[in-house]
Amino acid sequence: MKQIGIIGSGAMGSGIAQVAATAGHQVFVYDTNKAALDKAKINLETTLKKLVEKQKHTDETASEIFQRTHFISDIKEFKNCGLVIEAIVENLEIKQKLFIELETIVSEDCILASNTSSLSITSIASACKDPKRVIGIHFFNPAPVMPLVEIIPALTTAPNITEKTKKLIDTWGKVTVLTKDTPGFIVNRVARSYYGEAIRIYEEGIADFVTIDWAMKTFGEFKMGPFELMDFIGNDINYKVTESVWEQFFYEPRFKPSLTQKRLYEAKWYGRKTGRGYYNYAEGAFIPEPDKDEVTGRYIFKRILVMLINEAIDSLYLKIASKDDLDLAITKGVNYPKGLLKWADDLGLQSVLDTLNELYIEYAEDRYRPSVLLKQMLREGKTFY
Ligand SMILES: NC(=O)c1ccc[n+]([C@@H]2O[C@H](COP(=O)([O-])OP(=O)(O)OC[C@H]3O[C@@H](n4cnc5c(N)ncnc54)[C@H](O)[C@@H]3O)[C@@H](O)[C@H]2O)c1
Repeated sequence: MKQIGIIGSGAMGSGIAQVAATAGHQVFVYDTNKAALDKAKINLETTLKKLVEKQKHTDETASEIFQRTHFISDIKEFKNCGLVIEAIVENLEIKQKLFIELETIVSEDCILASNTSSLSITSIASACKDPKRVIGIHFFNPAPVMPLVEIIPALTTAPNITEKTKKLIDTWGKVTVLTKDTPGFIVNRVARSYYGEAIRIYEEGIADFVTIDWAMKTFGEFKMGPFELMDFIGNDINYKVTESVWEQFFYEPRFKPSLTQKRLYEAKWYGRKTGRGYYNYAEGAFIPEPDKDEVTGRYIFKRILVMLINEAIDSLYLKIASKDDLDLAITKGVNYPKGLLKWADDLGLQSVLDTLNELYIEYAEDRYRPSVLLKQMLREGKTFY
């Protein structure tokens, strides 16, 4: 497959284009916004220069990558592409309209992919004449840096398209995992508790943001605490994903959004990018200190961890992905120090179940119900590895 088309030259589209051009493809990047296209071209040149300075590429390689990337204003130039990846605005109707148009341009064997974070791939495919060739290819931001790519066949995707797509993205030096077309796929589903449970702990007055962040970094060796991470991702993006996953799961209590996060979103306290989020990033602003109480810290860490583990176990139970892919997705997609199923074994499945049961009894909320698979495995004396 020589030619690859990318639609959307924003944060994701331009990153994916760089990955594909680096892998040796002729890449055609299309955007309806000429200014976005020009900006993407300049950004690519700057990025490649920096990579040469860091000795990641030779001058020659960088210039080849740049020459292989074509920024186009006419979508018809996709006609010889073997794969087109869409990375435009997160809106189902607009994406469907685009896929309908794409089918009139590309050849019959061209694979059509979406990089959507939250929409169902099946619903995008349903707009097409040939839904068998439509698939989800979900990169993480920034695409050239983050190794993980989730491959999501729609209900209608032909198995050979899934296989071909996965093989191709593997050759781009990415770690691919296969996941069912369900809200949040793997990462945006399994990692939700890292934010949601942390906010619950804060709302209950058990600890403040900085203490919760300290607990996760100290006892769990996470690179960033949940509040630091939410401020980094952007509370606008994080809130919208939380709300969308919760709604799409028919209001499953495990994914319920919080008013704390909603108010931050309403106040436009998006985090680092706006200078204010859970923390204040203004120069000279007060930097809070954690209350380093070990008992509280360990309680916070265990409570958030068992919620994450329970979601990973339930995802395995519901066959969202394989055991290996679940653990790979979490270590490569959100940089957790360990896969959650491996962590479950290390902690002991009985200990995970005991903590979940304590929470379930104390709160009398469905949110804390342990996965059936966890109970079954304990009865049968099994472990994940
Ligand atoms: N930003 C992330 O962290 C992230 C991570 C993974 C997946 N995604 C998904 O990737 C997609 C793109 O996200 P982004 O952050 O790159 O968005 P962005 O806003 O940075 O870029 C979107 C680009 O698409 C262009 N565009 C909009 N409508 C178009 C159309 N009809 N035809 C051609 N171009 C059009 C816009 O001009 C813009 O340049 C979304 O579906 C998003 O959910 C985003």
